[in-house]
Amino acid sequence: MITVAGFNTAIDRLIQIDTLTSGQVHRASAEQVYPGGKGVHVAQTMAALGERVQLVGLVDAAHRNLVGRRMSERGVLFHGVEVAGELRHCMALRERDGRMTEILGQGPQLSPDERDRLLRDFQRSVDESELVILSGSLPRGFAADTYAALVRLAQSAGKRCLVDASGELLHHALEARPFLIKPNRDEVQVLLGRDIDGIAAAVDALREIAARGVSMPVLSLGADGAVGLDGDGAWHASVELEQVRNAVGSGDCFLAGMAVALRRGQPMREALRLAVACGAANAMETETGYVHPDRVEHLLGRVQVRAWMH
Ligand SMILES: Nc1ncnc2c1ncn2[C@@H]1O[C@H](COP(=O)(O)OP(=O)(O)OP(=O)(O)O)[C@@H](O)[C@H]1O
Ligand SMILES: [Mg+2]
Repeated sequence: MITVAGFNTAIDRLIQIDTLTSGQVHRASAEQVYPGGKGVHVAQTMAALGERVQLVGLVDAAHRNLVGRRMSERGVLFHGVEVAGELRHCMALRERDGRMTEILGQGPQLSPDERDRLLRDFQRSVDESELVILSGSLPRGFAADTYAALVRLAQSAGKRCLVDASGELLHHALEARPFLIKPNRDEVQVLLGRDIDGIAAAVDALREIAARGVSMPVLSLGADGAVGLDGDGAWHASVELEQVRNAVGSGDCFLAGMAVALRRGQPMREALRLAVACGAANAMETETGYVHPDRVEHLLGRVQVRAWMH
């Protein structure tokens, strides 16, 4: 079993309009509503790859059915902690030419009791798991060092912990020496305070993160693929796509692939292959944060993995 702590569940609304003009009224030509947030993306992708997965996250009374139904359709065991406030809403406006404008809601401010219930569910889930993933932002009310505490909790129970977060959350999480972190280029630039302008600089960044106690650091570079480090060395993996539909959530699917491979005992070079195939498979679909296993299978053979020698 793999546990995902993706506390800040979102309700995503994708609205199709003709052309966005600020200050004007627009009529939608299509509208879709579905559960979102990084935890949902990571969990449903791992389930699609055939793993047993549970997700701990917020839910509210109005959306319990929507989230619960989708997660069970996707094969994810959802531990929804119901809170009084309303889940955050994330609205994406898609124009006819494909341009997207996003408005991300703030989400509920949690009471101490609501925070405790989430943390208790997390602890219970960790006990049943081989691997733990902390993914995305935290709801308002949690301190910036919360992920550091969750990493310590999971790792003191002997469970490897993978973190995908940004800013202060990532900064503090690193102090607890998680097994793996997966920043993208922007996130690692903020974390280390310098530009990452190519593969060599990315590998240097990995070495610096490893020196801070992370066993398998990974850095994702969008269309340029990803680099990863383990005891065998540094690796760069990528796959070229002819057509990209929507790369939002590719990092989440990448992390899902990485976690599944690690759970199956694979080394970094093989884990990168599955992770890159998952990130790319997501980018080929319009849906955000989900992959079709046959597409992943097809891409696996096209991923190029190279040892980094310098
Ligand atoms: N255009 C693309 N072509 C090929 N592979 C891609 C493309 N975009 C993303 N990928 C794959 O997906 C992985 C993750 O993408 P990216 O670095 O953009 O993650 P991210 O910024 O964390 O995304 P998000 O946070 O939205 O999930 C990349 O390392 C790469 O392997
Ligand atoms: Mg990301």
